[in-house]
Amino acid sequence: MVWKLITYTELYTPVLPYKSTYAIGVVENEEGVRRIVRVDRKFFGKLKIGMVGDVVESWSVFGTIPVFMPAGVEVSERRVALVTGGARGIGAAISLELARLGYLIAVADISRDAEAEKTIKAISDAGSKALFVEMDVSKYESVEEGVKKVVGEFGRVDVLVNNAGITKDAYLQRISPDMWDAVIRVNLTGAYNCSRVVTPYMIRGGGGVIVNVSSIVGLLGNLGQANYAASKSGLIGLTYTLAKELAPYGIRVVAVAPGFVKTRMALAVPTPILRDYLRRIPIPRLVEPEEVARLVRHIVENEALNGVVIPIDLGTTISSPKA
Ligand SMILES: NC(=O)c1ccc[n+]([C@@H]2O[C@H](COP(=O)([O-])OP(=O)(O)OC[C@H]3O[C@@H](n4cnc5c(N)ncnc54)[C@H](O)[C@@H]3O)[C@@H](O)[C@H]2O)c1
Repeated sequence: MVWKLITYTELYTPVLPYKSTYAIGVVENEEGVRRIVRVDRKFFGKLKIGMVGDVVESWSVFGTIPVFMPAGVEVSERRVALVTGGARGIGAAISLELARLGYLIAVADISRDAEAEKTIKAISDAGSKALFVEMDVSKYESVEEGVKKVVGEFGRVDVLVNNAGITKDAYLQRISPDMWDAVIRVNLTGAYNCSRVVTPYMIRGGGGVIVNVSSIVGLLGNLGQANYAASKSGLIGLTYTLAKELAPYGIRVVAVAPGFVKTRMALAVPTPILRDYLRRIPIPRLVEPEEVARLVRHIVENEALNGVVIPIDLGTTISSPKA
């Protein structure tokens, strides 16, 4: 039986209690029988009046409902991931891992240096395509401009990894207002800026995933890192809230909380502090950036993960009270 789509509407607005991101349409068969159908959000932007397809029965919380499956619609166009601070360290590893998964990668960073070039080459060697976007996540206009460039080149954004981060460590009395502001502005406001600018494009594309790179320091606190810990705890609150707000639009939001990772940031920690840390944790080594990247890949792939903070820390969070 051939069914033709005669009209449809895409539901972007969550109207309680029928929160939905599905399109609702009316289909008709050769005998003139009409049915109201739901169309999966993966077909957003591709639906056309007169499109033919099948109607299948699908279970939902409202009972069994008819779902229209358009025939011959290519929905496998390449997906796009935007990774902030993607030039080096954890961001570069995440960019490469998602490139291997088939994503086109927007590497967003403050400047295109030799490390950025290396990352871009690795992405294309992995069979994907990288677009370098010069972006300062702490500045809203810069994020708007950068995201416009990504959408202009790749057409969409499916995954946003809020990874860009800095430290300006000192004990409270030595944290100047400037040091406080700089860390909060990059680590926390940067994630707000990017999430706010990117989500309308994700909604348009039928959903997406936001991964916030927090830290175990955001869960446990750490001596000499009040500004950094506050920014990373803030990211956890942002994750929980956006996970609730954006779920109706098919967008999941998850945070990862790494322990010390082998990157320039961790290697800047004074050796005695690092050595003391390694003595206290169950598996005494640094996390590899690629291990964090594999976790991010899992988050992107596993649709049951939403609104959680996943530590990846070799057991740091269980090693001592407020490590
Ligand atoms: N290394 C660790 O031990 C560790 C542990 C937990 C969490 N993290 C978090 O992981 C993330 C990545 O850190 P990393 O270890 O790879 O550090 P890194 O310093 O090697 O990389 C950070 C990247 O962010 C970029 N960046 C900095 N400010 C920016 C801005 N304003 N706009 C755009 N890009 C900016 C840098 O240029 C750099 O490419 C950070 O958010 C960090 O807080 C790191």
